[in-house]
Amino acid sequence: MSSAVAVEKLSKRYGKKAALSEVSLGVEPGEMVALIGASGSGKSTLIRHIAGLERGTGGKSRIEVLGRTMQENGKLSANAREIRREVGVIFQQFNLVGRLPVLTNVLVGCLGHIPAWRGTFGLFTRSEQERAMGALARVGIAETVRQRSSTLSGGQQQRAAIARALVQGAKVILADEPIASLDPASSKRVMEALAEVNQVDGITVVVSLHQVEYARLFCPRTIALKAGEVAFDGPSEALSDDFLREIYGEASEELILTSAVRRPAPRPVPVAARQELAAVAS
Ligand SMILES: Nc1ncnc2c1ncn2[C@@H]1O[C@H](COP(=O)(O)OP(=O)(O)OP(=O)(O)O)[C@@H](O)[C@H]1O
Ligand SMILES: [Mg+2]
Repeated sequence: MSSAVAVEKLSKRYGKKAALSEVSLGVEPGEMVALIGASGSGKSTLIRHIAGLERGTGGKSRIEVLGRTMQENGKLSANAREIRREVGVIFQQFNLVGRLPVLTNVLVGCLGHIPAWRGTFGLFTRSEQERAMGALARVGIAETVRQRSSTLSGGQQQRAAIARALVQGAKVILADEPIASLDPASSKRVMEALAEVNQVDGITVVVSLHQVEYARLFCPRTIALKAGEVAFDGPSEALSDDFLREIYGEASEELILTSAVRRPAPRPVPVAARQELAAVAS
């Protein structure tokens, strides 16, 4: 089976500034991978390239998404638009059209699959509307469906964006700092929604994060960028505080060593309940 995302020797220059230098990585279908790195290390740039929103600079490079070429040697593939339909992109902010109801924003996920004139006039079928409602329920904000999107909290907006990716039928979600402006409780809910669609729907998730704690909690694998190069690619639990201090420099204490979020320790199942479960299972 082909990779969900494959990047080969991607470089990007902005004027004289090298934002990415020969970055190579592969993400397998069904993985949930964190992308970390100090401010300016190239996380957003990398995500925009994978999403086909920007083209690499010079050299021999290639980006494949779901086994199809998104861009090669700095040229976007003719199929890029089509491939993008299977990719949900979630940014830190401004994912929704504020004046439209939540339901409409989520239904926009269908636009890749239905004729444009129907989207234009907002004539979505009943089954499309039901799918959108179902997706909102999945991410825990069913009650917001008729609200104007601008009235949602930041965390609810991000979950609506995840619901839209579900309705879109995305196989890959690229999320660029989706929790950067959220408080810990909302951050946790957004990360849980991403982890859920990853585990239940098998959607591949690549999520850039500022706080390493969330990478450790939710993503089995982390890729760390430092000055546009891959500085680490491996199990998140192998990220040592010393290594993180090295890649984050002065900002490290604030970003790495927070333990504001902890997954609750699994509670032991009482013996009686365990016997009951065993009886049901047999
Ligand atoms: N459109 C652009 N024009 C010029 N320089 C850019 C552009 N986009 C990014 N850069 C530069 O490329 C480098 C990487 O930026 P990028 O936004 O990818 O970093 P980042 O890791 O996402 O940082 P942050 O954590 O602050 O979001 C930075 O030096 C940035 O200034
Ligand atoms: Mg960024």
